[in-house]
Amino acid sequence: MEKTFGKLADGRQARLYTIENGRLRAKVTSYGASLVSLFVDGVDVCLGCDDVSGYECNGSYLGAVVGRNANRTGGAGFELNGERVTLPANEGKNNLHSGPDSWGWRLWEMTAHTENSVTLAIHSPHGDQGFPGNADVTVTYCIENDGLTITYRGVSDRDTVFNLTNHAYFNLFGQDKPERAMDQELMVPGELFCPDDAENIPTGELRHVEGTPFDFRTFKPIGRDIGMDYEPLILQGGYDHNFVNSGKVCAVLRNPETGLTMTVTTDCPGVQVYAGNFLDNTGKGGVYYGKRTGVALETQFYPNAVNHPEWPQPFVKAGEPWQSVTRYAFE
Ligand code: GLA
Repeated sequence: MEKTFGKLADGRQARLYTIENGRLRAKVTSYGASLVSLFVDGVDVCLGCDDVSGYECNGSYLGAVVGRNANRTGGAGFELNGERVTLPANEGKNNLHSGPDSWGWRLWEMTAHTENSVTLAIHSPHGDQGFPGNADVTVTYCIENDGLTITYRGVSDRDTVFNLTNHAYFNLFGQDKPERAMDQELMVPGELFCPDDAENIPTGELRHVEGTPFDFRTFKPIGRDIGMDYEPLILQGGYDHNFVNSGKVCAVLRNPETGLTMTVTTDCPGVQVYAGNFLDNTGKGGVYYGKRTGVALETQFYPNAVNHPEWPQPFVKAGEPWQSVTRYAFE
């Protein structure tokens, strides 16, 4: 199903696509290829807005697809094939989510739509956001069995970076129960996380979670240790850190009251766990999303990986088709 999602300030129309099977229903807009809603057994577990005006240049990246390079790039630049690639600095002297001309704030083109899937495409010219190569990128949302699968594909005519993510915030109590979001229980199998400096750039250390508030190897409420007197929590204002994935499952979220779980599997090397510490948005049905009213589980390369050759690298060769898959499965 397809319908209008309202008009942007400049008059352009955004579209809203609904995809479903029996138990799951998702809504995706052409604006930012953003995930607007995700209903599981009738409960909407994803934060979003009622129409496109709520999304225009939203600083919280609600449900947005972020590319070409998710998360932060220290010094807003990096070396590729011996040449300096310069990105716009939009967070102090650093780059966040590829800069102010975000893919999450552009209209994507629908190229395929069935009852249970939709594909949105974007053309990113050479030099877009500072990145080399004319790139064609698609994002496919597909509801299969008990889960939503997001498949990212891209190809560029020069060597470039592909490190896309989806910035959806989840609340398994329902998006209209913001006060319960930190009661969600989280399990992250990864044993290592990236402490950041005061500018949210990883220091380069991969720290073991043992004995720290970052130990989510068994389920615990996200809010339980978030206020602890521990430097990485203080510097970032709560959880906003990359975990090093140890296998395909990178995170499991659970509603301890209903037992609903969301298992996130990915081929990405990391997952950014962001507890919505700076959320400040009016959402669906007039619900106010304030501080810590949802959790984003952004599958991606480690932040600033482009400046850490010792870490898994998001570089892709000219002409080589690139693909990445993340799935959110519900039980
Ligand atoms: C972006 C990032 C999050 C977090 C916030 C802070 O949304 O994706 O990880 O750092 O900014 O406002």
